[in-house]
Amino acid sequence: MYQPLQKYPLIIIHIIIHFTCCCRIIFLLQHKLRLFKDGKLKFQVLEGEVYPPTVKEVGVDMHYPPHVPESHRFAVGHEAFGLVPGLMMYATIWLREHNRVCDVLKEVHPDWDDDRLFQTSRLILIGETIKIVIEDYVQHLSGYHFKLKFDPELLFKERFQYQNRIASEFNTLYHWHPLMPDAFHIQEQVYSYPQFVFNTSVVTTHGITNLVESFTKQIAGRVAGGRNVPPAVLMVALKSIENSRHMRYQSLNAYRKRFSMKPYISFEDLTGEKEMAAELEEMYGHVDAVELYPGLLVEKPRTNAIFGETMVEMGAPYSLKGLMGNPICSPEYWKPSTFGGSIGFNIINTASLQSLVCSNIKGPCPLASFHVPDIKDNGSNAINSSTAHSGSNDRNPTVLIRERTTEL
Ligand code: HEM
Ligand SMILES: *[C@@H]1O[C@H](CO)[C@@H](O)[C@H](O)[C@H]1NC(C)=O
Ligand SMILES: *[C@@H]1O[C@H](CO)[C@@H](O)[C@H](O)[C@H]1NC(C)=O
Ligand SMILES: *[C@@H]1O[C@H](CO)[C@@H](O)[C@H](O)[C@H]1NC(C)=O
Repeated sequence: MYQPLQKYPLIIIHIIIHFTCCCRIIFLLQHKLRLFKDGKLKFQVLEGEVYPPTVKEVGVDMHYPPHVPESHRFAVGHEAFGLVPGLMMYATIWLREHNRVCDVLKEVHPDWDDDRLFQTSRLILIGETIKIVIEDYVQHLSGYHFKLKFDPELLFKERFQYQNRIASEFNTLYHWHPLMPDAFHIQEQVYSYPQFVFNTSVVTTHGITNLVESFTKQIAGRVAGGRNVPPAVLMVALKSIENSRHMRYQSLNAYRKRFSMKPYISFEDLTGEKEMAAELEEMYGHVDAVELYPGLLVEKPRTNAIFGETMVEMGAPYSLKGLMGNPICSPEYWKPSTFGGSIGFNIINTASLQSLVCSNIKGPCPLASFHVPDIKDNGSNAINSSTAHSGSNDRNPTVLIRERTTEL
C-alpha cells in the first residue's frame, strides 16, 4: 500500500492548516492559554523541558478519546492538535518560540505591559510562520526551480485583498493523507496508527530534539499516482469526496481549464498508466466526469515528484494567496514598528525552520528540514536532491499569484 518516495520527509505536517487557524482563535480560548505575565503563554515543565499545559489546568476544550489520561491531555490553541504527535510537536515548538520572543521584546522594551508583549510577540510569530512556510515549505513542495522570497513590499503596488479566507477547493485539495506512511519510526521505535494517534506521550518520551530528527529522516508517501491512502484514514478521503459533491464542485477538467491547464483527453492521459485508467473509465465513463479530489489522487505524478500537475498549479497560488493575504503583509502593518522595532522585524526576516528548532531546544540541534538527508538513490522511487536548493533567480510569490489565476 505505502509507496515511499525518497527525499520527502514526514515532517511535512499541517503547518498551513495551523497557520490558517491562527487568526480564528477565539479570545476566550486565548485568555485561558495566556499566563498574563510578560506576554507569555501558560506552560508546564516536564523533565526540565517546556511543554503545553494540561487541559485540567487551563480548562480549554480539546478532543481526546476517553482512554487518554488527564496528565497526557495537553491544551493548545486548536482543539484537534492532540490528534498526532507531529502537531503537538509543532505546538510545543511554537509555544516555546512565543515565550522566547516575549523575553527578547521585554529586554528591548522593559516598560511594556503583558498585553503589548503578548500581541507583539503574536504578530512576530505570524510573520515567522509565513516566512518559513513560503521559503522552506512551499519552496520544497512546489518543485519550482526558482527561489521563492517572502517580501510583502512587492505586492504594495498591486490591487490585492488582505483577508483571512481560503477557498473550499484549497481545503479539499489539501487532504494529503497519502503523505502518511504505514507506520511511524521514531528513534528505535516503530508506532502503528493506534499507538501513534492521540498519544502525546510520544512527544514527551522522545523529546522535541529526537522527534524533529526522526520526522526529518522518515520518508513520506507519494500523494499523486493513486493507491496510496493509508487504510487508517481512508474515511477522511471518502468524506472529502462526499463534501465536494455536496458543495457541487465542478470536474477536475473544469478546474484545470480555470487554472490555465489543458484538460485531460483520456483516462490514460490523466493517470499515465492503464490499470487505474480502466477502473476509472468503468466508474466515470468519460474523463470529463472525473471529480476534483479523486482526480488529484490518481493523477500521474510529475517526474520524481510527490504531486501531479493539477495539485501544484492549483495549490501553490491558493497557498501563496493565503500567506501573502495575511493582514501583517499589508502596507499598514508591514513595518518594523508593528513588530516592536527592528529587532522584532529582523526575527521575521531571518526566520527558518532550522533556526526555529535550534532556538527552542537545549543541547545540540537536530537537522530540521523538509528534505530527507543522505538517502542513497534506491531504485525507481529515488529522486535527486531537493529543488529547494536548485534555484538561482529570486522570485516573489506575487508573480506566481498573478501568472496562475486572476480569481484568487
Ligand atoms: C496520521 C496522520 C493523520 C490523521 C490520523 C488525520 C486524520 C484526519 C481526520 C480524522 C480529519 C477529519 C475528517 C473529517 O471529519 O472531515 C482530517 C482532516 C484533514 N486533514 Fe488529516 N490526518 C492526518 C494527516 C494529515 C496530513 C499530513 C495532512 C496534510 C498535510 C492532512 C490534511 C487534512 C485536512 C486539510 C483536513 C480537513 C481539515 C478541515 O476541514 O478542518 N491530514 N484528518
Ligand atoms: C504511547 O507512546 C508511549 C511512549 O512511547 C508508549 O509507551 C505507549 O505504549 C503508547 N500508547 C499506546 C496506547 O500505544
Ligand atoms: C537501499 O537498498 C538496499 C538494498 O535493497 C538496502 O539495503 C538499503 O537499506 C536501502 N537504503 C535506503 C536508504 O533505503
Ligand atoms: C539524478 O542525478 C544523477 C547524478 O547527477 C543523474 O545521473 C540521474 O540521471 C538523475 N536522475 C534523475 C531521475 O533525474
